[in-house]
Amino acid sequence: MKVLLGISGSIAAYKALLLTRLFVKNGHEVKVVMTKDAVSFVQPLSFSTLSKNKVYHSFYNETGNQWNNHVDLGLWADVILIAPATANTLAKMATGLSDNILVATYLSARCPVWVAPAMDLDMWKHPSTQRNISQLQSDQVQIIDVDDGELASGLSGKGRMAEPDHIFEVITKTKVNPYNNNIPLSGKTVVISAGPTYEAIDPVRFIGNHSSGKMGIALADEACKMGATVHLVLGPSNLSPQQAGVQVTKVVSTNDMFQAVTSFAPQADIIIMAAAVSDYTPIHVSDEKIKKKEGEFSIPLKRTPDILRHLGKQKPAKQLLIGFALESSNGLENAQAKLQKKNLDLIVLNSLKDKNAGFKHNTNKVTFIDRHNKITKFELKSKTAVAVDILNKAIELNHA
Ligand code: CTP
Repeated sequence: MKVLLGISGSIAAYKALLLTRLFVKNGHEVKVVMTKDAVSFVQPLSFSTLSKNKVYHSFYNETGNQWNNHVDLGLWADVILIAPATANTLAKMATGLSDNILVATYLSARCPVWVAPAMDLDMWKHPSTQRNISQLQSDQVQIIDVDDGELASGLSGKGRMAEPDHIFEVITKTKVNPYNNNIPLSGKTVVISAGPTYEAIDPVRFIGNHSSGKMGIALADEACKMGATVHLVLGPSNLSPQQAGVQVTKVVSTNDMFQAVTSFAPQADIIIMAAAVSDYTPIHVSDEKIKKKEGEFSIPLKRTPDILRHLGKQKPAKQLLIGFALESSNGLENAQAKLQKKNLDLIVLNSLKDKNAGFKHNTNKVTFIDRHNKITKFELKSKTAVAVDILNKAIELNHA
């Protein structure tokens, strides 16, 4: 594979040396294009030595008498990877501002393009960066989500460039997008919650539930393949999405989930609450581990916010709101009541009584009840297939 590695000016530029080595060692050909700021972080000589190819960092050669042809470079590549991609480079890519050879090459390319962003946490969270990311996703650029951890500024949070091993894996292993010629959610933002929530009792104990997060993660992966910008708000789960483009925010409690989901909600075209949210939380969280005593013991609980109901109350006209209902009896009536009470467009009912469906299983058996009270019953199928049914129904409702 011919890999064009673009490097922009971030301290993470040193990791691009490891990436170059990984690709070359595994038999790929690498050509490197750098911005001027990237050159301040790492010498082009290091990249030309590792890649055994000339490195490009300006439109002209040193003496200024020869033009470096960005069109040829763009057409040469089987894949373009920009790692690290700074907020500045992402903004230029999103708007087509090609004042350097890296962005000019990107604009000339016809191959798949990946970016691995790297920046400080507030820059990553900033609405303008998130807007540029959404724009790039609708332009079919694939985003490799940033890592959470220590940042060059000394702060800690989301913004670190993904590790070279992970980037290499994602690019070499990702299958061709099966929706390539049909990306019905292109330009749409989908917010999905998944997994359980944990409500702390003391430093070692919590109130939780058996949700694995599989259904919500399947929804996030399928929405991403359909071209959407996807924010997955994920409670404590051992699982994570397969699609590198899914932007994951990890949360623990119902309150954390409320904060994260409501922060993404204003930009969302579709919100799907697949999480199994705790309805109660302890009134007091003990700082110390609670010691056992003789006799019975009870924990006073208070209600948590109903996230979906809150979203339903302030739903913008064009936003689609989808909830789940897990019921053990009177499923249809209970689900219909939740649809009304929470002002939903669709509720997905699953029954605790169906074999191989619901919590922890790879399969699910659901019934849809939409805002027109149309009821559709499905057979048992994989959670991936259920996710596709839900997203197709969302697309249908959006057009209705
Ligand atoms: N939900 C939520 N916030 C809560 C509780 C539930 O957003 N505090 C969402 C769930 O993610 C789901 C829907 O509301 O999409 C229905 O959840 P469910 O637990 O079935 O119903 P509840 O509203 O909690 O009602 P009940 O427990 O009485 O069945």
